[in-house]
Amino acid sequence: MKKVKKAIFPVGGMGTRFLPATKAMPKEMLPVIDKPLIQYAVEEALDAGIEELIFITGRGKTAIEDHFDYSVELESMLAARGNARFIDEINKLILPVGRVYYVRQQKPLGLGHAVWCARNLIGDEPFAVILADDLIFGQNCLKELISACDNGNVVAVMRVDPEQVDKYGILDIDACSSNIVKAKGVVEKPKVGTAPSNVAVIGRYVLYPEVFRHLENVNTGINGEIQLTDAINSMTPTTSLHGVFFSGTRFDCGTKEGMVQSTIYGALNRKELADSTLSYMESVMKTETK
Ligand code: G1P
Repeated sequence: MKKVKKAIFPVGGMGTRFLPATKAMPKEMLPVIDKPLIQYAVEEALDAGIEELIFITGRGKTAIEDHFDYSVELESMLAARGNARFIDEINKLILPVGRVYYVRQQKPLGLGHAVWCARNLIGDEPFAVILADDLIFGQNCLKELISACDNGNVVAVMRVDPEQVDKYGILDIDACSSNIVKAKGVVEKPKVGTAPSNVAVIGRYVLYPEVFRHLENVNTGINGEIQLTDAINSMTPTTSLHGVFFSGTRFDCGTKEGMVQSTIYGALNRKELADSTLSYMESVMKTETK
């Protein structure tokens, strides 16, 4: 199994879909129950063995840095109130010094460009990319990717409704075996009716460092942005591409529907919230169906 020690978290996006919530707050700090999206992503990475974390940030994103740092005022206030449990809770978030990097992506030029911004921190080893918008409950998706396939580029995939293919990178399938597909290529957001399959890339990647050279050379893609999938696609003649059907439950938290659904799902799967959430939902259903 290959060792993947570094992960890139592109967190520079504007979050316009969630305005006004994201006017003064990064969209990655939106909470599902009691944790911001970025924390779920970081916990998944650490649990998968990641040792160095690289955040590609932008203007207005400093709350992310603060979230993973000491908060002396908060800690002393909690200590004064004798609230030890919360002190442990917030101190668990502090990331190891010297292993966390924040790189500013000065202009929003696309996911591919965001990843390219980390090139000097990655060096010559395979690395992970995690999109916090794709929240995956259940099994650790990055861990599944790392252990499922030992060569070439690997991406998390799921089948989507053919009407939804224009929201995703879509694999051009070569061969399929149980939970892994071998791909000939990948197309970013194809028009409905033109996609090579309905196997969509979800925001977890394990990539070879050659991708940086390709990111330098790819043309601007769809939406006028440098697309990560275009660089991965241009590598396929020399570097294999596999998709792994992950086993967790994924929510598109880049959309309002995804945020609402993940909150309900998360609550139903929390011991202390499950019963009250369920009975509230039942009472709403009864009132709505009267
Ligand atoms: C990005 C990627 C796309 C991928 C998707 C998964 O798109 O460009 O290939 O399928 O994430 O969520 P975005 O959602 O940022 O438009």
